[in-house]
Amino acid sequence: MSGAKVIALLVTGLLVGVMGTSVMMSAWQQRGVLPKGTMALMESHLTKARRAASGEACDLDRARHHLQRIDALSTDAIDIFTALGTDNFPIEQRAFARVVTQAIDANDCTALGTGIKMVADACDACHHNNHGSP
Ligand code: HEC
Repeated sequence: MSGAKVIALLVTGLLVGVMGTSVMMSAWQQRGVLPKGTMALMESHLTKARRAASGEACDLDRARHHLQRIDALSTDAIDIFTALGTDNFPIEQRAFARVVTQAIDANDCTALGTGIKMVADACDACHHNNHGSP
């Protein structure tokens, strides 16, 4: 084998190694980014729903919009958390979804306020059952 071929082989080996490492790194990062990103979005919608429901300017439709986003995100989260091996997630999500649906169905601002408070408690309940989460 000529010197040039040996060098070409070495460079190829190095490149494959680097590529393999970066694929692994991105898989690792996704492991963290996807669940955390989903939860961060749910938190942001909860804050906005609270804001829409509070005070005299209570806006039922606006709050409902954010609660519906929470509903959709927590449904998406089933696949994400199942892939991560959070075994009880689908079961706990079902209970959570019922509470979210109740809040969405609220037909006045008092019921909406209570509903949103129950959603926040339901977030905490699932976190409590999944140790190490906030
Ligand atoms: C069915 C279970 C479940 C429900 C419901 C749930 N969460 Fe979570 N949440 C988790 C788990 C599990 C983690 C840990 C994720 C991780 O770090 O990998 C988490 C993590 C988080 C985090 C921290 C993310 C980070 O950056 O580490 C926030 C913020 C959060 N959840 C907000 C919420 C809010 C707000 C709600 C309700 C609107 C909610 N969660 C509902 C299971 C749930």
